[in-house]
Parts: sequence; C-alpha cells; structure tokens
Amino acid sequence: MAHSLYVTRRIPEAGLKLLRESGFDLDINPDDRILKKQELIEALGLRQYEGVLCLLTDTIDREVLDATQTARIYANYAVGYNNIDIDEAKKRGITVTNTPGALTESVAELTVTLMLAITRRVAEADSFVREGKFEGWAPSLFLGSDLLGKTVGILGAGRIGARVAEICVQGFKMRLIYHDVTRNEAIERELKAEFRDTPEAVLQEADIVSVHVPLLESTKHLINAELLRSMKRSAYLINTSRGSVIDESALVEALKEGVIRGAALDVFENEPRLAAGLAALSNVVLTPHIASATEATRSEMAIMAARNLIDFFEGRVPRNKIV
Ligand code: GLV
Ligand code: GLV
Repeated sequence: MAHSLYVTRRIPEAGLKLLRESGFDLDINPDDRILKKQELIEALGLRQYEGVLCLLTDTIDREVLDATQTARIYANYAVGYNNIDIDEAKKRGITVTNTPGALTESVAELTVTLMLAITRRVAEADSFVREGKFEGWAPSLFLGSDLLGKTVGILGAGRIGARVAEICVQGFKMRLIYHDVTRNEAIERELKAEFRDTPEAVLQEADIVSVHVPLLESTKHLINAELLRSMKRSAYLINTSRGSVIDESALVEALKEGVIRGAALDVFENEPRLAAGLAALSNVVLTPHIASATEATRSEMAIMAARNLIDFFEGRVPRNKIV
C-alpha cells in the first residue's frame, strides 16, 4: 500500500513529483497559508498518516506529535529545525530530517546583499527617490561606508557562515574574525580567519557582525543589550539565522540610541510580527525571511525533503537525519 504523507503547505513541484513517482499518497494543505496549530492537529488526525512534510512555520511540539500516533517521520523543509521538539521526537523514536547544504549559497548571497544594502543605505535611498525627494547629485547625499578592508565578524562558522566569510574575504578583502563552539580549521587556513573564544570578543572588534548559529537554548538572545553595547558605534549587525538569537527589543533600543550604526534583518523573534519601533527606524534594512528564496534553491530543498522521506520508507537511514 502507498505510504500516506501529510504536506503542511505546497512546496515546489519537483519534490512533490518525486514523492508521487515513488508511490507516496500525498495530502497537501489546500490553502497556501500557514496552518494554525489547531488546524494542523485536526489535519493530522484525519487519516493514519505515516509521515509529515513540514515547514519552519509549523511548531511540531508534544501536542502536535500526539495528534498522530502513526507518523514516524517529520521531514522539515528547512535547514533550521528549532520549530521541532527534537528531544520529544527522539524519545518517541520519531525520525526528523532537514535540508542542509541546498540553501547555503542563497543564504550567503542574501547575507552579503544585506551587508551592502545597510552599509550603502540602499533601502533608505530607494524610498527617497520614490518619494520624489531627489533634487540632483550632492556631495553628502546618503553617505555610507565601504566593506573593503573592514573586519567582518562571523558568529557560527558552519556551511553558511563559512561561505559568507569566503565572499567577504575574497570579494571585499575583509579581515575575518569568528567564534563558534567548534573551530573551523578550513577557514583559518584558507581565509586567514582568526578565532575568538567568545562571541563578545568578536563583537568588540568587528565592523560588521553576521550571525549564522542555529537557534538553541544556548543561543537564544545570544546578542543581548549588554553585548550590543560591546560593539563599536560604527558597527553593523546582520542576521539571516533565526530572530531569537538577538534580543530584538534590545536591538531597537540600541539602534535608536546610536549604540551601533545599523542592522539588516531577514529573521525576527516573533514572525511575522516585528518588535515595537523596529519598522520606524531608518538605520535598518528588513526583509521577510527570504534568504533561501531563489527558484533553484527552493526546488532543491523540496527534492531533498522528498529524498529523506524516500530513504526512510525504503528502509535506509535518511541522508539528512537529525534524530
Ligand atoms: C530557513 O530559514 C531555513 O532554515 O531553511
Ligand atoms: C547550514 O547549512 C549551516 O551549517 O550553516
């Protein structure tokens, strides 16, 4: 009999096609929107689903896991999996997979886009032109700062952090410092990265800080009011990881008071809501969690999620198994 899967929201066809061709029976949330928790629980209770393909916007906690006794695998369509209670899944013998690697380049490229956008004030300048305020070239119109030769500080030097570092060093000849819980010898060797033994040491010294850690208990509010105060007043903060790694309200205060010069954020603590005051600031660039949003990458992620499910049901260890 065909294995039945619930897909919490339509993902690119490449992945769905692969699943259908492999004989899966798919039920896909018919509405193109995030399911409320209660809706997800109800949907999972409708049939004896054997697996779930879920998104980072789905909170897979005990209650959701309780909604189906039959699903043995949750294939997350994302590299980050902080939306899933991993300990609970493990306890229950449920497999969880993610989609690493596929999105590294796209996330790194958006990260660098944000670096350029905030240092060259692209969003502010764009609004200015659209609002009809441009009256001709001026010596001091929208002065920003260059990346060339500055120091970039990477927090979290995994695949994405390392690729951002590489673009910064090779493209903009930046000096590279980083912190991670494990050292990345490849970037020390190839990019002359200098390791710092605390996040604070990176923040104190960097002109641009870019965050690439997973969201864990230990990284929640890793960047708080105190750490923001340790940064240079001329420094910028970029986040394409998870919003909760930064205390967003503390960041709003820091930006208002000129503790740092600017920030560019693709992720927020309580998506889709923003911390009070954030959207009113001119020294921020805000994008709606689109770092992996290229056609090629989203298709590749869909194929990866599908392959994990196929591995599992064909009796192999899924290639991107977390637990
Ligand atoms: C995107 O945020 C992801 O984790 O894939
Ligand atoms: C994700 O791909 C990472 O390890 O940075």
